[in-house]
Amino acid sequence: PNADSTKGKLLAVYEKAQLFYHHILVNTKAGEEALNYLIDRGITEESIETFKIGFSPPKREALKMYLENENLSETDILKKSGLFSDRDDDKFYDRFTNRILFPIMDAKGHTVAFSGRVFLENKDDQRRTAKYMNSPETEIFNKRRILFNYDKARPNIRREQEVFLFEGFMDVISAWQAGIKNGLATMGTSLTEEQVHTLDKVTDHVVIAYDGDSAGLEAIKRATEFITEETHFSIEIAAFPEKMDPDDFIQSKGIDAFKDFLSHGRDTLMSFLMKYHKQDINLSNESDRLKYIDKVLDELTRVTSAVEREMYLNQLAENFDLSTESLKEQMHGHIVSNQ
Ligand code: UTP
Ligand code: MN
Ligand code: MN
Ligand code: MN
Ligand code: MN
Repeated sequence: PNADSTKGKLLAVYEKAQLFYHHILVNTKAGEEALNYLIDRGITEESIETFKIGFSPPKREALKMYLENENLSETDILKKSGLFSDRDDDKFYDRFTNRILFPIMDAKGHTVAFSGRVFLENKDDQRRTAKYMNSPETEIFNKRRILFNYDKARPNIRREQEVFLFEGFMDVISAWQAGIKNGLATMGTSLTEEQVHTLDKVTDHVVIAYDGDSAGLEAIKRATEFITEETHFSIEIAAFPEKMDPDDFIQSKGIDAFKDFLSHGRDTLMSFLMKYHKQDINLSNESDRLKYIDKVLDELTRVTSAVEREMYLNQLAENFDLSTESLKEQMHGHIVSNQ
């Protein structure tokens, strides 16, 4: 956009803010504690540069003063930037204080928002505020559209012909350090139509690698429903064990185990769903077993390939000591009732 337009001015403010926060983290005493936190979590100095991570100091007017010195103090633009909360009429306070900041960039690599993580071992602090706090939506930041790391991952996604979808910043960065450079984060929310549209331009092969906790499994379920309904993507699921997220997995099992899991630990959509529906169900209980079979048959009606359907029907028949014929018959009941 034109440098004199609102968008152009907002981009300039975000660019300066990103440089400022990064400088505080890397070069100042004020950033030392935050830097140590990141290093303790295994983030390398190289990643801090690559992802331009920063730190917002505790002082409530640090950014405000810096931008004034840089002659970026147009009230209207500062207001629109979402970088300040204006409690009184014309008093601006920095929105981000005492947080580690992950810049969120658009497809061109311009910073358009921040997400700030609390890190102090101050339990009060953690209880009062969300773990991550984000910039509000602005003229340059549309949450539904953006995928974290899309700017850097795009050429790698094209080359590998697949994309890994993670939940969080730390997952993307740890994976990047492990050599997996075609990973993006949906940043906790479930995948949107706009994000799918963006992905569609670069690949047709999506590997969902969300957290292994129950929130993560639910998010996988929602994403798979969406992807199969709206698109022609081929999807696979890497469901992490023991409630771990990808970053936890790397920290506890190492890079080799992580890469091995991402290449050989994938489920097809149907085998994920067959595991998913087993949660909270007691398969030794007869009525639970029937409920489970019914749920799986219902999912199977959405599988378009006859060969695949047959394969899962056979698997189900074998697992429950039933005939494939009776399962087929029951499944046709679902097809009719779904119409
Ligand atoms: P998680 O709760 O899984 O956090 O949320 P995480 O990524 O594992 O974070 P660490 O490892 O504790 O640092 C996944 C993602 O959801 C978004 C963030 O993008 C986060 O990375 N999120 C989470 C928020 O936007 N706000 C929150 O309060 C929490
Ligand atoms: Mn493909
Ligand atoms: Mn999570
Ligand atoms: Mn997580
Ligand atoms: Mn995590």
